[in-house]
Amino acid sequence: METPVNELHRGRRTKDGIRIYDPSDFAGMHTAGALAARILDEIAEHVFVGQTTGEIDRVIEERVEAAGAKSATIGYKGYQHASCISVNHVVCHGIPGDKKLKDGDILNIDVTVIVDGWFGDTSRMYVAGKLSRKAERLIQVTHDSLMRGIEAVKPGNTFGDIGHAIQSFVESHRMSVVTDFCGHGLGRVFHAPPNVLHYGRPGTGATLEPGMFFTIEPMVNLGRAETKTLADDWTAVTRDKSLSAQFEHSVGVTEGGCEIFTLSPAGKFHPTYG
Ligand code: MF3
Ligand code: CO
Ligand code: CO
Repeated sequence: METPVNELHRGRRTKDGIRIYDPSDFAGMHTAGALAARILDEIAEHVFVGQTTGEIDRVIEERVEAAGAKSATIGYKGYQHASCISVNHVVCHGIPGDKKLKDGDILNIDVTVIVDGWFGDTSRMYVAGKLSRKAERLIQVTHDSLMRGIEAVKPGNTFGDIGHAIQSFVESHRMSVVTDFCGHGLGRVFHAPPNVLHYGRPGTGATLEPGMFFTIEPMVNLGRAETKTLADDWTAVTRDKSLSAQFEHSVGVTEGGCEIFTLSPAGKFHPTYG
């Protein structure tokens, strides 16, 4: 029997072990990414002073199930929640719980869903009550640093170009890029090569090719870059207790640049737009 052409190409990897997906695979990523983004759109009204992060996570889990999708994080390395919710000086992997949000708290909500085997991973920032000026600046710079990184995503550029775009922008605003965590390849799996560093030098690292799928998810601190992980083995915090923010998109490299799979259907990715 003849092997169909797309089967021959399926699963090709670069010398760095980065999987190259087929043009037809973009549709699955688009669907998964759009669901994760829609859930983040819909969760905005559940973020308010007095609300618990556990209740926000419960609503997220309900929405994932209602969509007929699966949470990628429940059961992942023993993690038990449908989201990570990282408040104030928590850098990432905050565990939802009974703590109530206070006026001025900023939080990142990170959701990963699986739709027909495709992974959609995205996070963005929210505020409970009134946003302080310094938190607003941090959120703006973090959001814009992700967008600078995404602008560097096109065939022929390298992963170092992405990292450099993010790092140079953040540091020009006298903030710090977290180096202890990175973005990652994804697609039919949650975490795959490469590690997508949010810092680096132009022209270094693997060269981008059409069909690469990965996340970019810079974490930015108002103070120093150093983090530590709490005794729960998940929660990462800034060592100096300074505020931290993060935004994450899942993208796929196209001939002309990239497709952002996790665009907000309601245009509410940035908190002050919605
Ligand atoms: N969604 C996170 C990421 O951006 C991973 C969370 S893993 C968990 O890669 F187990 F902490 F949920
Ligand atoms: Co991710
Ligand atoms: Co994520």
